[in-house]
Amino acid sequence: MARKPMMAANWKMNKTVREAQDYVAALLPRAEDSEGVDIAVFVPFTCLHEVARMVEDSDVVAGAQNFYPEDSGSYTGEVSAPMLLDLGVGAVVVGHSERREIFGEDDELVARKTAKAIESGLLPVVCIGETKEERDGGQMWDKVSGQVKRVLEEVPDDVGGEQIVFAYEPIWAIGTGDTASPEDAQDAIGQIRDLLRDLKGDGFADSVRILYGGSMKPENVDEIIAQEDVDGGLVGGASLDVESFTALIGATQGSDWPVAE
Ligand code: 13P
Repeated sequence: MARKPMMAANWKMNKTVREAQDYVAALLPRAEDSEGVDIAVFVPFTCLHEVARMVEDSDVVAGAQNFYPEDSGSYTGEVSAPMLLDLGVGAVVVGHSERREIFGEDDELVARKTAKAIESGLLPVVCIGETKEERDGGQMWDKVSGQVKRVLEEVPDDVGGEQIVFAYEPIWAIGTGDTASPEDAQDAIGQIRDLLRDLKGDGFADSVRILYGGSMKPENVDEIIAQEDVDGGLVGGASLDVESFTALIGATQGSDWPVAE
């Protein structure tokens, strides 16, 4: 089964509303002919209203970088799924390693957020990945498979693979310029797909998209996305510049993509 690739920008804690407007205004004309690739921009909450408004009639999906899995209530500082849907947001990053490592999100919370996003009609992009110490210590697969299994415990049986996206982001490759080799990316993502096949069956495993994240950039994108099981990218640093992000989209889509002037 052919999966539609996805190229996703994760701006993290970057860009004012004005900067977001300039970026999206430049992205939209390039995204007009986005057949063959899904484009998502995961922006700070402060930009979300404006970005969602700007992309409303386009194929670009406005995404949030986080949310809290209750609809409303006394959760100071948090934002709910209905609030995101109200803005026209279509997707949300869940369990990014920065949220896990800096803000203490554990597997249980990540699993609850994933289930709540799906139930609410948001596409969760669920991040998983190991630290350098875990990789060097031979615990990479224990960590990653444990993260995947915990998420699936909360996902109802009737949820299809197209309702969730995983992003394999080895923590040692995030923001470091140190990218996983294409073979390492394929190896990890292929194993994740095999695990999903065991746990959820062929239909799920063949339709679920698994992205690579970690210092993806125009110079290395071709080799990484050429790997059989890699369905696109979740990109931090190289997504902040719209030229560089559109180059990544173009590489994902193939040679038909209109090249930046
Ligand atoms: P970089 O592309 O900056 O390494 O960040 C990857 C990432 O964390 C995307 O979510």
